[in-house]
Formats: sequence, structure tokens, C-alpha cells
Amino acid sequence: MSTTDAQHAAPQPIYLKDYRPPAWLVEDVKLTFRLDPTATRVLSRIRFVPNPDAPGAFKLDGEKLKLISAAIDGVPVEPEITDTQLTCKTPDGPFTWEAEVEIDPQGNTTLEGLYMSNGMYCTQCEAEGFRKITYYPDRPDVMAPFSVRIESDLPVLLSNGNPGKRGDAFAEWIDPWPKPAYLFALVAGELVAHEDSFTTAGGKDVDLAIWVREADIGKCAFGMDALKRSMLWDEQVYGREYDLDVFNIVAVDDFNMGAMENKGLNIFNSAAVLASPETATDANFERIESIIAHEYFHNWTGNRITCRDWFQLCLKEGLTVFRDQQFSADERSAAVRRIDDVLALRARQFREDNGPLAHPVRPQSFVEINNFYTATVYEKGAELIRMLKRLVGDNAYYEALELYFARHDGQACTIEDWLAVFEDATGRDLSQFKRWYSQAGTPRVYVTEDWRDGSYTLQFHQETPPTPGQDEKRSLVIPVAVGLLAQNGSELRGTEVLELTSREQSFTFENLPERPVPSILREFSAPVILHRNSDKAERLFLLRHDTDSFNKWEAARGLMKDCLTGMALGENTADEDLLSALADVLRDDTLDPAFRALVLQQPSEDDIAQTLFEANTTPDPTRIHQVSEQFANAFAAHAEGSLASVFTAMKPEGVYAPDAQGAGRRALLNASLTLLSRRDGGERAAEQYDTADNMTLQLGSLSALLRVGSGISQLERFYDQWADDRLVLDKWFSMQVALATPGDAARIATDLAEHPKFDWKNPNRFRAVVGGLASNAAGFHHASGKGYDFVSDWLIRLDPVNPQTTARMSTVFETWRRYDADRQDLMRAALGRIQSSPGLSRDTGEMVARILE
Ligand code: PHE
Ligand code: ZN
Repeated sequence: MSTTDAQHAAPQPIYLKDYRPPAWLVEDVKLTFRLDPTATRVLSRIRFVPNPDAPGAFKLDGEKLKLISAAIDGVPVEPEITDTQLTCKTPDGPFTWEAEVEIDPQGNTTLEGLYMSNGMYCTQCEAEGFRKITYYPDRPDVMAPFSVRIESDLPVLLSNGNPGKRGDAFAEWIDPWPKPAYLFALVAGELVAHEDSFTTAGGKDVDLAIWVREADIGKCAFGMDALKRSMLWDEQVYGREYDLDVFNIVAVDDFNMGAMENKGLNIFNSAAVLASPETATDANFERIESIIAHEYFHNWTGNRITCRDWFQLCLKEGLTVFRDQQFSADERSAAVRRIDDVLALRARQFREDNGPLAHPVRPQSFVEINNFYTATVYEKGAELIRMLKRLVGDNAYYEALELYFARHDGQACTIEDWLAVFEDATGRDLSQFKRWYSQAGTPRVYVTEDWRDGSYTLQFHQETPPTPGQDEKRSLVIPVAVGLLAQNGSELRGTEVLELTSREQSFTFENLPERPVPSILREFSAPVILHRNSDKAERLFLLRHDTDSFNKWEAARGLMKDCLTGMALGENTADEDLLSALADVLRDDTLDPAFRALVLQQPSEDDIAQTLFEANTTPDPTRIHQVSEQFANAFAAHAEGSLASVFTAMKPEGVYAPDAQGAGRRALLNASLTLLSRRDGGERAAEQYDTADNMTLQLGSLSALLRVGSGISQLERFYDQWADDRLVLDKWFSMQVALATPGDAARIATDLAEHPKFDWKNPNRFRAVVGGLASNAAGFHHASGKGYDFVSDWLIRLDPVNPQTTARMSTVFETWRRYDADRQDLMRAALGRIQSSPGLSRDTGEMVARILE
């Protein structure tokens, strides 16, 4: 290999099978930060002890650090340093390491390590960002108590744990709980606090604060309320109490993800915590509530018990997502939450699982761990916990969790540890269940049936299609919740969980008085694609009668998908029976308005494309867009009168509150308005825009107007009203692109990218425009290729500045194989341009290579 080849050689993957315990453990960490925008000094004093179980050389991780000095037990040393590591001769026994390094927070645009966001210092260390702060064994299985001293003139100086000494221009923090470095955090800035307190079940008083810039102080109340409800819920449901004297949350504008669970100091993307009725929609409030809960719940599932290595990421993420889903279900409508969660699972995880980026919930290898914070690890990971709970039962589930907390508190664990807890608590053999963690791909479950002499038999066949690197698939344990309905709609058999374990399996229900109508996969009891030749009549029957609200909704969804795919193939038009059935749901005020709004929501164009592709036809995005519009127009015409009366009935009463009930009514109001605008040319929407006193109604009316090609003056007024509110302005940017007609989308995105407020280095703003275009399926996939060009040009531009956000967004190209040869060529060319851009990051390089593979 020549030198140039070596330089350009693909970075080597890391394998789970190569895991070795750390050679050195850390007993104690003391850090001092002398903050300076371009030359911050970090002094570390770390007590190392050899790991008796795994002796080996002393190596520390470190990147982009300028070493000023280093000493062992007070004696200066001169370590060997590469771009990523430091090695040094050490004593055989315990010693104290002292080092001083210099870093440049201002110059750090990656938003990983210590960086600056609008004049404030903040950190992001998960997964491997701490090594950009100082030399350290930056791996989750090295846990230690930290104490931190921050020196700066800034008024607010925060770190993990409990506050220590505070003086003129310095503050100290002591975190008594051993933690891995990825949970380290520091914040310094001109911030103000929204304060409150919480008393734990054990009587401990905890000071709570949400730290924001002064202008945002009015947007903290809801987040604080969500935090207190989360703290109470975790005590009541999981018996978990908070374990420090303070809990701090900080809102930052520049953040790659939603939020981060640093011990005692959660750092949030401001979009994931700040909300007021005037500036945030119901959907924003709901998302904030679940993210606050998620990060708080990590205190036990993630922080007190952490991951041994990054392959075990789903140990903390799958479980914590499941816990936040449980919380939201308890706080709001469980049925509606489940439908929302499944919609998100299908839109993101099924799409991932059925494309080139498919990987197991516990991956076997990675090049860049940041690329594995995926829907599969998070959302499918949560589905695995949900299935486990269903298989062992609620009581056994909570007993197993008690055992997990008792046995593993303070440890860095694996999926094996997790499953062993369940085996020990329940006596159940989980070796087959474990395959869910290592096998990628979405299982297909085919069902046929047999009826004879009062016996009804369901025959199941399961099959998981091959995924990259995994040709052979084994059968999985699949819990299938089934209920049987009588012809008159009453329940013949209540929900029962059938456990599929082999490729082919039958279950017989005896002594039935009549041939039943089956309701299969109730509550979406497993993350699979169910194939059943059910006809329209059966689906219409289930939509009317199913007692399981998930399957009731699913019946409508199946009908709409069949109808829309048929329309896309030119085989049929909008079906009158379906339109009538939907209108019945619309009018049925015994049903929760939120549920009704979900039934009326059409399958996304991306969903239709995936469905057609699965049926071995090539989706045409333009055509899919046209038929989606046709269907909406047909329904609006069919149900105009009902829409108008529901719209009137759902008009808000009293003051806005972001609770589930009010949000449900507004969801149905906006859904009706959007459809009605197809009839009245936007008259009602314009009126709602003028009178709206909250963002849900303002945005609902504006998007209804944009959908019918109107709303120009409202867009301008919206801009004038909100030009100084970053989060609202993100909505202004994204909605114009996301709702543009297919032919206009790329041009509008291009114009907006020239706008003085298009601060592309801010991930939220970048996602609003570039992600906004990608979310406009017909615009992104426009035959001209302009959508692909726009997105790829911007990814190339962002990569050197922020590789993580670039790599994440490159997934918009993961579906290229679905499309016709011309589009495939265009998308591959776009990916090729990204791939060959000089100095491409490891993050984006790995993603693009996997997408093209
Ligand atoms: N651990 C964070 C969460 O699940 C997500 C995150 C990952 C944030 C990496 C930043 C960086 O809430
Ligand atoms: Zn998480």
C-alpha cells in the first residue's frame, strides 16, 4: 500500500467481540477549568489504580488537545502523543496523574466537547466527546466520582452533582456518584433560572432549576411542571428516587440532538424544553414533556446503571424510551400515544430496517458510534422491552426491574446482564428472545385461517428478510395479541397473547358459536409487518367495531393505504365506502377527538412509496403526491358538511392549556380546517389566523393556507411577528419548504438558504430548511434532481463544520433503491459527490458508504 492509499484507507471498524476490560481504573477525578473563549485551560488530577483482572498498558484518549504539562505523582513526565491517544510509562501500582491542557471552545463548531453557543460555554460528551476536554480513559466502563472547579467571571457556573464552594469568579461542584466521562457536563454563561423544588418520597428536598437566557424565562413553566411529574412518576411506578440535592436543566440553542442526561445537569436543545402557548404547538409541548421525562429517567436507567461499552447503547436507550412512553401514556391518552409511537416507529425505524442502514438493536460493529443513535437502537429497542413485559407479565416485569436496580446499581452493564435479571426473576429461558437484539430487519408475519365445526384456527408464518451482512434469519419469539369479534361486533374472545416461536405455527380457538372476525396484533404487540389477506369488508367491520383502539385505527390505515396504492397504480379512485366510513369516525363524538384526528390523517407519501416498493412496484413520488391530494380533495368534498360542523364544535373554549384533552380538540379542529380549506379556498383558515391566540391555531391555519397555495400575506406577517424568536422562526423556515408544491420546493429552499436569518451552522435552522426539503417527498424526489442537489450541496458544506449533524441527515438518501433508474442515478451521483468531497468526516464517510453498499 502506498502512503496516499494508507492516508485514505477507510477507518477500521470496532467490534463487540473485541471488548477488553480497562487496564486502569479511576478512583477519583478533580478538574479545574480556567475558561477562556479561545484558550481554556483544563487541569486534571486523576487517581489511577491498576485493574487486577485485566493488567495492561496505560493509555488515555485525547483529541484536539494541546498538552501543556503532565506529571505522575508530582514528577513531570513526557508522554507520547498521537492524534487520538496518549501513552506514558507509569508505576505498576496506583498513582496520581496530573495534566494541564489547552482547548479552543470558540473554534469548536462540532458541538461536541466544550464549545460555545451564543456566548455561553457548554459541553456535550456522549458518546466520545470528553476526550476533547482532557486526556482520559473515555469509555463508559470507567466510572469515578468527579469534583470540578470552574474559574470564570460569568455569573452562572454549573457542573454535575451538588454545589460546593462559590466565590468571586469561581464555583465548585462535587458529584459523589461514580460516573463515566460521557455524563460529564459544564455550563457557564449569563443565565437566569426558573426555580422550583421537589420533595422526594424519602423526604429529601431537591432544588430544581431551568437555566435560560433572560429573554426565554417565560418559556420554562411547562418544562418544570413536566420535570416534577416525571420525578413523582418514577417514584410511584419504578420506586426510583432522585439522589442529589439539585437538578439543573440548561437550554442551549446549538445542539446536535434533543437533549442529554448528564448527571444532575441535563443539557437541552432549546427546542426540546422552551415553550409558551404563544410560541409552541401542542405537538411541541408533548415532545418536550416526553424528552424531559426521558432525560430524567436516565438518572437510573443510564446513569446509576450505565453501559459497559457503546454496543450496549440500547440497554439505556431502549429502556429509557420505553419508560418515557409509559409515562406519556399515563399522563395522556394511552391509546393515542400508542398510535403516535407506532407511526414514528414505522416512519423511521421500519424505513431504516428495510434499507441499507439496517442493523441490529445491538450492533456488532461500528466505525463511528455517533452514527448508531438510531431509530433501531432507540425505538425498536423500546419495542423489545415492551414485548418482554408482555411476555413475562406486569408483576414479573417490575420484580425483574427491582432486581436489576439492586444487583447492578453503580455498574456498567450488558444486554446479557439485563436478560439474566429477567431469567432469574421469572425462571424463563430468554435465549430465543435474545435474537431480537442481534438480528436486524423487520419480521414479516403472514396469517391465514381455517374455520370448521366451531373451531377457528390461525396459521402463522414468520420470516425476516435478509439485511446487509445478515443473510440467514432465525425465528423469533413474537407475542401476537389477538381478540375475536362476533358478526354483531361484540367480543367473542377477549385479548389473548399468542407466542409465536417457530417459523410455522397454528393456534386453535374451540367452541365458538359462529365464525369470528379476528383482530390480530392488538396494541401493535410486536414490531413486525403483518400480512393478512383481509378484504375491505373486514377492515370496515374492524374500523367500526374493534374494541382495541390501535387496531380500530389500523383498520382505517390499511384501508387508506390500499386505496392510495391502488390510486397510484391507476387501478381505482377514492373509494366511496371508505370515505363514508371515515366520515362516520369524524362525526362520532363518543370517540376521543385526538383519536378521530389520527384516523383522518392520511398515510405519508413516504409510507405509500415504501408500501409500493414492498409490493415490487416502483413508486413514482409525483404520482403519489397527486393521488394523496386527490384523496384529500375527495374526502373534503364527501364530508364537507360534517367537517364544517366538527370544525365549529371543536372551537376552543376558555384559556389555552397544553393538556391532552385540549390538544385533542385542537388536533381535530386543525384537521377539519385543513380539509375544509380545500373547499372554501382558505376563508376559514384566514379567519382563524387572524384570531389565533396560540401557536397551535396560528400554525394550523397557516399550514392549511399554504397547502392550498395561499397564505402569502400571512407568511409575511408571521415573519414580522416572530423574527426575533429563534424557535418560532425555525417553523417559518421549515413549513414553507415542507409544504411547497413539488415543482417549487427546491427553489424555495434555495431562496431561503440566502435569507439573512439562515444561520446554517445552527443545527435547528439547518434541519428546518435542508431537512424540511427532504421531508417534502415529492419535492425532494422531483425528477429534475434539484432536490437531491440542494441537499447534497448543503451536506458537503456542513460536513467540515459539523460532521454529526451531516451524517445524521445523510439518511435522507437511504431509500434510493426504491426508485426508478433515473432517480437512482441522480441520488447515487449526489451521494458520490458527498463521498468524494475532500477531507470528508469519518461520520459522513461511514454513512454514505453504507447507504451505497
Ligand atoms: N443520550 C441522549 C438521550 O438519549 C442522546 C444524545 C446522544 C445526546 C448523543 C447527545 C449526544 O437523551
Ligand atoms: Zn436517551
